[in-house]
Amino acid sequence: MSSGTASHAGATRAVASIAPIVRPAAIGDVPYIHHLLEIYAAQGNLLPRTMNELYRHLRDFFVIDVDGKVAACGALEIFTDSLGEVRSLVVDDEFKGRGFGRMLVERIAEEARAIGLKRLMALTYVAPFFHKLGFKTVAKDTLPEKVWSVCVKCYKFNSCDETAVLLEIK
Ligand SMILES: CC(C)(COP(=O)(O)OP(=O)(O)OC[C@H]1O[C@@H](n2cnc3c(N)ncnc32)[C@H](O)[C@@H]1OP(=O)(O)O)[C@@H](O)C(=O)NCCC(=O)NCCS
Repeated sequence: MSSGTASHAGATRAVASIAPIVRPAAIGDVPYIHHLLEIYAAQGNLLPRTMNELYRHLRDFFVIDVDGKVAACGALEIFTDSLGEVRSLVVDDEFKGRGFGRMLVERIAEEARAIGLKRLMALTYVAPFFHKLGFKTVAKDTLPEKVWSVCVKCYKFNSCDETAVLLEIK
């Protein structure tokens, strides 16, 4: 399941010849998504999400599937009639630097556009990655929908050091 396991190492060796597939997440992906998120939640880079929460929000998630293995995940959460958020974006260490993060954010932005959202935000420690994808850094107080519905309940609320980035969806 995890980076460095025998099965995943095997997938990596073969990855050059296997095309990654971006697809909506399925029930069976949840333990793998949970494991990916836990690694970065433990480092304080992402908010932790329980298995139960992941099942309830499963339809928000896309994964990148490499030969049946979950190599990356990311979610689109809807806040209002115009604003969505990229959440829980993680690429397994063994698959970083192959464009998987870009593929997921582009898929999420495509979904946001298809359902009629106008703006896509993220709170992140990797703003330069989002800048490469067309997002701009904005002040958090320009996103009150997020701040007063979610951030206010976060343990980091008074000490949030993440950067808010925003993509205007054309
Ligand atoms: C950030 C993350 C999703 C990037 O995924 P990735 O698959 O390695 O990134 P990609 O290969 O798609 O990179 C796309 C572009 O962004 C750049 N990029 C990737 N990570 C970057 C970083 N940390 N800082 C600056 N630029 C970065 C790449 O160089 C590439 O640029 P190019 O198109 O000019 O070549 C991945 O490193 C990750 O899972 N990080 C840990 C969890 C995390 O912080 N998630 C974000 C939460 S909001």
